[in-house]
Amino acid sequence: TPIAVLISGRGSNMEALIEACADPGYPARIALVLSNNPEAPGLETARRAGLAVHAIDHRPFARDRAAHEAAVDAALQQAGAEIVCLAGYMRVLTPFLVSRWAGRMLNIHPSLLPAYPGLDTHARALASGDSHHGCTVHLVTDGVDEGPVLAQARVDILPDDTAETLAGRVLAEEHRLYPEALATFLRDRNPHDVAP
Ligand code: GRF
Repeated sequence: TPIAVLISGRGSNMEALIEACADPGYPARIALVLSNNPEAPGLETARRAGLAVHAIDHRPFARDRAAHEAAVDAALQQAGAEIVCLAGYMRVLTPFLVSRWAGRMLNIHPSLLPAYPGLDTHARALASGDSHHGCTVHLVTDGVDEGPVLAQARVDILPDDTAETLAGRVLAEEHRLYPEALATFLRDRNPHDVAP
């Protein structure tokens, strides 16, 4: 299944997806890596992996979020993407793009949703005195970090954790969870699609 991966920065979750797709038995291949940030370090990583990359800077679109999304959607269509994986894509989507890709757009979020949607999830989990934290892969719907949960991974919070140490352990789980959740999602969707 051809997928597009949308990033804004480092792109380590994208890298985990690239590695998974290198296995011929994995049910996805990356048709496009797209970023709203032309300086995203992940774009270079994707280029080096030989992938089609595209940056559509949101800034020239100023307040015209709809026009930026129309350009993003056109690039996704042109690449032949059937599924979109948000991987650290730091733009809130409008109902236009969400409805275009309803049921076909996944996101990874660094918390055990519905706990801590939004930013600074690790610091918030620590400040609340939680005993555990984690990450979630979910389908994208109109509410930010809402939508049906596909998979979660749990991480124990240790007594001397900082937001950084906790984020590091959650990120390691993200890298395992996202490729696994995507594969399960694709196989459930199309049981005969064993190889790309
Ligand atoms: C990850 O923690 C992801 O869950 C969150 O933003 C971070 C992106 O990291 N949405 P990377 O760009 O995948 O390295």
